[in-house]
Amino acid sequence: MGPGKIDLKGRDLICLHDFTPAEIAAILELAGDLKVKQKKKIPHAFLPGRTLGMIFQKASTRTRVSFEVAMYQLGGYSLFLSTNDLQLGRGETIQDTARVLSRYLDGIMIRTYKHTDVEELAKYADIPVINGLTDLQHPCQVLADLQTVIERKGRLKGLKMAYVGDGNNVCHSLLFGCAKVGMNISVASPDGYKPDEEVVRLAKEDAAATGARIDIVTDPVEAATGADVVVTDVWASMGQEVERDRRIRVLAPYQVNPELVRRAKPDYIFLHCLPAHRGEEVVDEIIDGTHSVVWDEAENRLHVQKAILAMLL
Ligand code: CP
Ligand code: NVA
Repeated sequence: MGPGKIDLKGRDLICLHDFTPAEIAAILELAGDLKVKQKKKIPHAFLPGRTLGMIFQKASTRTRVSFEVAMYQLGGYSLFLSTNDLQLGRGETIQDTARVLSRYLDGIMIRTYKHTDVEELAKYADIPVINGLTDLQHPCQVLADLQTVIERKGRLKGLKMAYVGDGNNVCHSLLFGCAKVGMNISVASPDGYKPDEEVVRLAKEDAAATGARIDIVTDPVEAATGADVVVTDVWASMGQEVERDRRIRVLAPYQVNPELVRRAKPDYIFLHCLPAHRGEEVVDEIIDGTHSVVWDEAENRLHVQKAILAMLL
């Protein structure tokens, strides 16, 4: 199911680069529709009897709870599968795990380290595989971010997003997300922490098709100037804990604070996928301030993932 002629049944959602602008628009449209239905208590049990396995190799608050509630609200069921408990954690291969889980489940959501592990899982699974975060990408987060921008700005195309900080998984998915919807994005990161060059190259290809502009810069002020949307994320992602002290030192000039956002548009909005490290990449005054929409952004994980599940499963 899904708006218009868009049919995503059976597809995986691993990276936004794999989706067309029309497919992304359809997911966002359904997400908005499902949000209204939930608020108005209009029944929308589109997945009766369907099951989603949720494999977690990393911690999670939002992804776990929002996917679990999403399946429940759609009339389905979800299973939390920690890799500490799965045989996967004891050496059973991803291929065999994919084949077995495909005999029980209607879909798999996975949060793990290596992006290639998700691709391998999808290759051997007969059911849709959804990326719930890898070291390289966080596509569901960015779909929720785009839904939040639409709610506040009424459009995506032609806006300017400024991503300030570590060129990480969230940054990579934002590059693809913005490119696909025609939103300009300026990423400011220090040398050594810039986004992956191959991701930037592919995102620029996507951007060429929609007229979006992608700039990778070093100066945070340059990125923030004239921005409609200011975004940041933690400086040390899950798995990078040992690099934490060094990252805090190098990324300190990239903090989102009142001085930096003075360069943004007067009606800019602030996004952060959360969890935030207050006092590091962002200060309380910004995340708790009037421009911050981070709680709506977190809520929209639920609505956009319901749309993803309803369309893919
Ligand atoms: N933003 C996000 O993915 O949060 P969790 O790590 O809590 O799932
Ligand atoms: N970049 C962060 C996002 C957490 C949702 C991480 O990977 O830890």
